[in-house]
Amino acid sequence: MDLRAKLDGAVIMAPMTKGGNLPYRRLCQELGADITFGEMALSRQLLRGHRPEFALLKRAADERCFAVQLAGNNGEEMAEAARLAVTRGADFVDVNCGCPIEEMTRRGLGSALLRKPKRIESIVTAMVAAIAPVPVTVKIRLGWSEDTRNYLEVAAAAVAGGASALTVHGRTRAARYRRAADWDAVGEVRAAVEIPVVGNGDILNPHEIAAFRAQSGCHAVMIARGALIKPWIFSEARGAVVDDGPEARIAMMRRYVELAREHFGVDERGTRRLTEFLKFHLGFWCRYVPRRADGTLSSMQEREERFEPRNELEALLTRDDPAAHEWWVRNLLEGEAAAGAPPAAPSDTSEARELMPEG
Ligand SMILES: Cc1cc2nc3c(=O)[nH]c(=O)nc-3n(C[C@H](O)[C@H](O)[C@H](O)COP(=O)(O)O)c2cc1C
Repeated sequence: MDLRAKLDGAVIMAPMTKGGNLPYRRLCQELGADITFGEMALSRQLLRGHRPEFALLKRAADERCFAVQLAGNNGEEMAEAARLAVTRGADFVDVNCGCPIEEMTRRGLGSALLRKPKRIESIVTAMVAAIAPVPVTVKIRLGWSEDTRNYLEVAAAAVAGGASALTVHGRTRAARYRRAADWDAVGEVRAAVEIPVVGNGDILNPHEIAAFRAQSGCHAVMIARGALIKPWIFSEARGAVVDDGPEARIAMMRRYVELAREHFGVDERGTRRLTEFLKFHLGFWCRYVPRRADGTLSSMQEREERFEPRNELEALLTRDDPAAHEWWVRNLLEGEAAAGAPPAAPSDTSEARELMPEG
């Protein structure tokens, strides 16, 4: 596969633990995502034959361009895991150098690798030797902390190892989601390396794609939370004017349920799993804020202190209390009649709405 050509102007669904489940990827692909990433898989668990980890390598039969993302800090293990990913149909394999979670970094995984550019180089070298001509890519943050923004060094290490492309999430590990993504830094990487650069961070609206691309010169963009909050961002990215009214949003939710039933099955176990995934997705879907009355759009970094739903159904979609989500699950899985009347809204609705829970 010619990855450079594939990336040219691409709008990519980011690797997301849980969020990148197979049916949700299919939904995003239907809505226009050019490339989809699986959920991060741990190389060591794959080598141990851990079955749930192998499920993360599974590609949907109709997935057009599918990447597997691996986490690990040992070149040999990562090379072997990359081979496993390729035998299961990955179009390319990505190295996670961004995960900020303590449980990972304490074991030297994810963003901990940013402190060891040489290690990144050796991991990529081993993976490239194992799976060429299948491309190896690397996803990085700007650095471990605000004092150690070593992204140019890390990017050079990835290139030296033979990476075919680089995704830059424009924040440090320490920044988590608190600061706005630094797209100028994405641009610095773009200017410093010959391989394609994918920019990532804070995309929620289509005009931001054009603006961030112009600002950074990046070849492609990657969307994570935006895809969870409004999967139709991929249609908008293609210039479609999307109906974001409640009926259209509910139709999209029902389509996810169809795709998820195909994947998880309709027996008790499958329904339990789907319920769990639906609750996860409802936690993001409810954060969608439509265009304001004055015509402006909210950005990822803004908090909507007060958002006035246009009607009752929209108000219900916006609720983030567990009773409302239970009700939506019932509605989606068993139908409107079974769900009955919606639960009363909790009395305190004035809380500021965070776009992303920390974690
Ligand atoms: C629920 C969730 C799970 C994530 N899991 C991963 C992951 O497994 N691998 C990874 O590289 N990044 C992961 N990320 C980070 C995103 O890929 C992305 O880099 C980050 O959210 C910034 O993009 P955004 O501003 O579009 O959300 C995750 C993000 C979210 C919200």
